[in-house]
Amino acid sequence: MNRGIIQSVRGMNDILPATCQTWINVEQTIREVVSLYGYDEIRTPVLEKTDLFRRSIGEQTDIVEKEMYTFVDRNHDSLTLRPEGTASCIRAGIAHGLLHNSTQRWWYSGPMFRHERPQKGRYRQFHQFGIEAIGWSGPDIDSEIISLGNRLWKMLGLTDLRLEINTLGSRESRRKYIDELTRFLATHISELDEASVIRFNQNPLRILDSKDRNTKALLVNAPVIRDYLTHEDKTHFDSLCRHLDSLRIDYHINNRLVRGLDYYTGAVFEWITPGQGSQNAVCGGGRYDNLVQQLGGSPTPAAGFACGLERLISLLEGQEDRRQPDLAIDVWMVLLGESAALAGHPLAEELREAGIQVTCNCGGGSIGKQLRRADQSGARYAVIVGDQELESNRAIIKELRADDEQSGIPLENVVDFLTKQLNNKTTSL
Ligand code: HAM
Repeated sequence: MNRGIIQSVRGMNDILPATCQTWINVEQTIREVVSLYGYDEIRTPVLEKTDLFRRSIGEQTDIVEKEMYTFVDRNHDSLTLRPEGTASCIRAGIAHGLLHNSTQRWWYSGPMFRHERPQKGRYRQFHQFGIEAIGWSGPDIDSEIISLGNRLWKMLGLTDLRLEINTLGSRESRRKYIDELTRFLATHISELDEASVIRFNQNPLRILDSKDRNTKALLVNAPVIRDYLTHEDKTHFDSLCRHLDSLRIDYHINNRLVRGLDYYTGAVFEWITPGQGSQNAVCGGGRYDNLVQQLGGSPTPAAGFACGLERLISLLEGQEDRRQPDLAIDVWMVLLGESAALAGHPLAEELREAGIQVTCNCGGGSIGKQLRRADQSGARYAVIVGDQELESNRAIIKELRADDEQSGIPLENVVDFLTKQLNNKTTSL
């Protein structure tokens, strides 16, 4: 019975081999950049207790209200596929006693899950690279994490990202500001879009993030948080700006920048690609000084960011002068007949033992067909073994990227010969 093709879950993508190399290159660059700054990797489970996200991201955020993959497991526990990585890092840090009176610089990377409406740049399973610097309260660490991001874009060759920063202030500043904002919005309530009216009662700050054209126009005259900051909050933000200036990192202060997660306090930022529509944030983060205590630890300041890898990779793919990933292997084994296959596969193992990348032709085929496959694979050399070669105990080595250079080499010398050839090529490049 034909039951049809099974599709992947909507909004969850396969990353196919042709694209994987770009992912590997980006992941490699991430590893290089975090090690330049002395950040250590942490890996946490993809499943967490639902309460973790309710208590950290906030009950009245879109993520918790309508985007989490939550289910009850066989023990009747409510579990959730992580929608982000910060809450898990803090949970793990508290559980393992790593945050008390100490500092941590951590990074992570992996799949996250949000039941959003899929579109380009917005998926239900997506990948984040994130860093969390825990235990420091000063603007120096805020600027350090921003400069780590900045260096990553540089190393990847991304040129078009714009850094926007704002501050949400401490609880005290925010309370004063929200009162003032609510007063302003109350006088315009009939002009607000439907979603903003709901937010007005639950989380008025999020109205600043509205994409509705009328609401945006109205917000031009809304009060801005910078006028309500305590002296301490203002000093912190001004100092962050001075740090960024000293690092020669361009930034734009965006008074309307708020974040979709409730744990932020103080400085927040986003790296955006101008002209990429609504999914233009490649990276977002900021300070979250209350979260450790909120999750049961002792009061500990922290700051971090996360970057969406799908969005990053799509930008890289869109750049004309990006470096082409090197998918090619070193050697393709052309094996003509069963005896050749029986001798050729062990020879391929010897080559691999020496660190040479080899693909064996499987499934037979004429010499012409096998050489065509070798050519398409991008391999530098074809090693040809057939009955004739076996009789004379030799293999033919053909340099595929040069004009028909071909040599017969005794089988026992093939590994040495190719090792030398490949080393010469690498050093002369
Ligand atoms: P976030 O702004 O929710 O922050 O996500 C960070 C980045 O993840 C976004 O800028 C975007 O690039 C990517 N992203 C988010 N949702 C999706 C989606 N549905 N599809 C594709 N990409 C997406 C956080 O998650 C915070 N934990 C960041 C942080 C770390 N703050 C402090 N430390």
